[in-house]
Amino acid sequence: MVVGAFAIELDTVVIGSGPGGYVAAIRAAQMGQKVAIIEREFIGGVCLNVGCIPSKALIQAGHAYHNAKGGDAVFGVTSSDVKLDFKKTQDWKNNTVVNTLTSGVEMLLKKNKVEIIRGEAYFNNENELTVMGADDSHQLYSFNNAIVATGSTPIEIPGFKFGGRVVDSTGALNFEEVPESLVVIGGGVIGSELGMAYANLGSKVTILEGSPQLLPTFEKDMVKVVEKEMKNIGIETAVNAMAKEAVDNGDSVTVKYEVKGEAKEITADYVLVSVGRRANTEDLGLEAVGVELTDRGLVKVDNQGRTSVKNFFAIGDITPGAALAHKASYEGKIAAEAISGKPAAIDYKVMPSVAYTTPELASYGLTEKEAKEQGLDVKTVKFPLAGNGRALSLNAGQGFIRLVATKEDDVLVGAQMVGVSASDVMAEVGLAIEAGMNAEDIALTIHGHPTLSEAVMDAAEGLLGLPIHM
Ligand code: FAD
Ligand code: NAI
Repeated sequence: MVVGAFAIELDTVVIGSGPGGYVAAIRAAQMGQKVAIIEREFIGGVCLNVGCIPSKALIQAGHAYHNAKGGDAVFGVTSSDVKLDFKKTQDWKNNTVVNTLTSGVEMLLKKNKVEIIRGEAYFNNENELTVMGADDSHQLYSFNNAIVATGSTPIEIPGFKFGGRVVDSTGALNFEEVPESLVVIGGGVIGSELGMAYANLGSKVTILEGSPQLLPTFEKDMVKVVEKEMKNIGIETAVNAMAKEAVDNGDSVTVKYEVKGEAKEITADYVLVSVGRRANTEDLGLEAVGVELTDRGLVKVDNQGRTSVKNFFAIGDITPGAALAHKASYEGKIAAEAISGKPAAIDYKVMPSVAYTTPELASYGLTEKEAKEQGLDVKTVKFPLAGNGRALSLNAGQGFIRLVATKEDDVLVGAQMVGVSASDVMAEVGLAIEAGMNAEDIALTIHGHPTLSEAVMDAAEGLLGLPIHM
């Protein structure tokens, strides 16, 4: 073991290079800080390597295969010899999509003069940490400020030890072959996105969700549209389904579960367990340094991301709130600016939530229920995509856009969409909510024709009581 006896001096140190850490490091460097980033596994973190990006690549491959296999027949396009070379799919996902992005991030860090240190960080005290390298080397570093962005890990549940035929999201993203059958425990975002991707790639998928509704963070009328498509592509679902145990049969796995007390079981090639993620706040020395955690192991932070130890900041999945990449990056920028003495403060008013199901789900700002709980007097309007020419020309007329606005002055406080490209269409509404715009601001903005975003304009006109296409 090689031990660096003297501490190397750093100014601001960032632990973890996910969308929280690398963005924080670059912004801190832009603000004139001398920054180092410590990463134990992969530059780009979960999101770029085994999360957001590879999952979207597989989802897209699923669409391509499904459409070629008959999904495009409605356009008069058919093919008799459709083949899936899944090795090639995986190769494209890993070597073209993921590698291009992760090497791009590495380049950006270097261009901004952020020092990249490989290894696992452990805090010795408020101003010193040790980095353990893969070769068992230990090096001491001293620092003035720390931004902790160590992310999260899949939750393992009793009876479903990861390994073999029981996989987490990383395992499911990296199957060498498309499983003939796949059981998914947890019909949240990962379970629904990957479940639909594999169903489109040819697997027989069954999703078992413990709560009374799939995708429970989205509103029921939105989820219904996705459930219909799940049925169309052959996915079976069960809600109120509590997973009990996985039995490895060698060449298959049997999942035992209970629905309202009734014992059931199902056998498949693999079982994907996607029941949420837990924060990576253990084995980091945080508590020894005095950083306070919640009872769920998340780091307590103020509205700049500052922890109970004044030179320690925490961002991303290790802090309370949704575990989302854009939240992590946003918090990273605020923390970096706060360290640099800027008057930055977190404001989650818009906080998008998106699921890349078919069709996509997107929710910005408040739902009607949340607005009412906050004491706001609101009205809503729902514009069906069946009234949008672009959606129909894409053969994607299912779904709707809902706007939530104050009754008194039509100020937008929230919006939800289920429909094609909801992830992109809704950005306009995010800006409108952030800027405090009202329905008239959107209605009077000329939208190109034919575009999906015209549905936002139509919904805004609906809010004003002047709908043209409803
Ligand atoms: P992470 O991305 O988890 O990065 C943390 C980094 O810290 C890791 O690289 C880790 O190796 C490193 N690290 C941990 N401990 C140490 C240590 N002691 N020393 C050194 N390095 C350390 N979010 C979205 O917004 N949109 C999506 O579409 C989306 N899709 C997803 C799909 C899947 C399958 C999964 C699993 C997640 C998805 N997410 C998505 C969630 C998103 O990936 C996370 O919210 C995001 O990555 C969190 O960023 P982070 O910077 O907090 O941490
Ligand atoms: P999740 O919280 O979205 O869903 C987990 C689901 O599992 C919930 O519906 C829950 O009711 C269910 N569940 C919990 N225990 C269960 C049990 N024992 N049996 C059956 N069901 C059970 O978590 P998921 O899908 O693991 O994703 C983790 C996080 O990653 C998400 O919360 C999200 O923040 C992020 N993510 C975001 C994406 C996006 O933005 N498009 C895509 C994928 C992940």
